[in-house]
Amino acid sequence: MSDLLIIGHRGAPAAAPENTLPSFLLAAQTGAQMVELDVHLSKDGKVVVIHDEMLNRTTSGTGPVMARTLASLKRLDAGTAFSPQFAGTKIPSLEEVFTSLPRRIGLNIELKTNIVNYPGLEAKVLSIVNRHRAQQRVIVSSFNWSSLNTLHRLEPQLRLGLLFNRLQPDLWAQASLLNAFSLHPALACTSSQLIWQSHSWGYRVFPWVVNNPAQVVELKTAGVDGVITDCPQAILQAME
Ligand code: G3P
Ligand code: CA
Repeated sequence: MSDLLIIGHRGAPAAAPENTLPSFLLAAQTGAQMVELDVHLSKDGKVVVIHDEMLNRTTSGTGPVMARTLASLKRLDAGTAFSPQFAGTKIPSLEEVFTSLPRRIGLNIELKTNIVNYPGLEAKVLSIVNRHRAQQRVIVSSFNWSSLNTLHRLEPQLRLGLLFNRLQPDLWAQASLLNAFSLHPALACTSSQLIWQSHSWGYRVFPWVVNNPAQVVELKTAGVDGVITDCPQAILQAME
């Protein structure tokens, strides 16, 4: 199974608070080759890593992420909602993720532009990736394919992944326009036909979220190139 890319969804969120440095580091230590993370813009235009548009579910704060500066976001606790053991854990910036993770770990950066419009997020993410000379270890994905198009125009070589949770008629046309690197279907719309068709166009397939080791084996047999999972450690142990 070693050729299957194991991507920690928001890090290792079964064992540590999602989208935080402890979660990403744990995923990396336990053998994930890549971590997936979600990005938004703070009020002062910094790229910050958190899943929801609102702070309420995962942090000690309330209200929209975009209503606070990075300094204000840094005063919040992003660990206790998961477990008091992680009290004091902070919301990371994308910059910090790059400086904290070993270079061998890939990053799947999801642009969360499908609910809130964050003008300039695409260019800022590209600038951070380039500053860290990280194009070869990054895939940028989004449910908002216009955002991917913005990025493609800025940097045609950047590896892009189309996220979707239902099969859309324009999938193949859009993937071609964006010169997509990969397709990221929800598990429910992942089929042998989709995998075969994707490969015939040269796209990798990374379904999400796959937490059952038996399902990983089935998907591997069907030809997927990797899986996005909440529990990279358990999946890797089961594969051994
Ligand atoms: O990248 C796959 C997955 O992360 C997309 O859904 O809601 O977990 O960001 P969500
Ligand atoms: Ca995500």
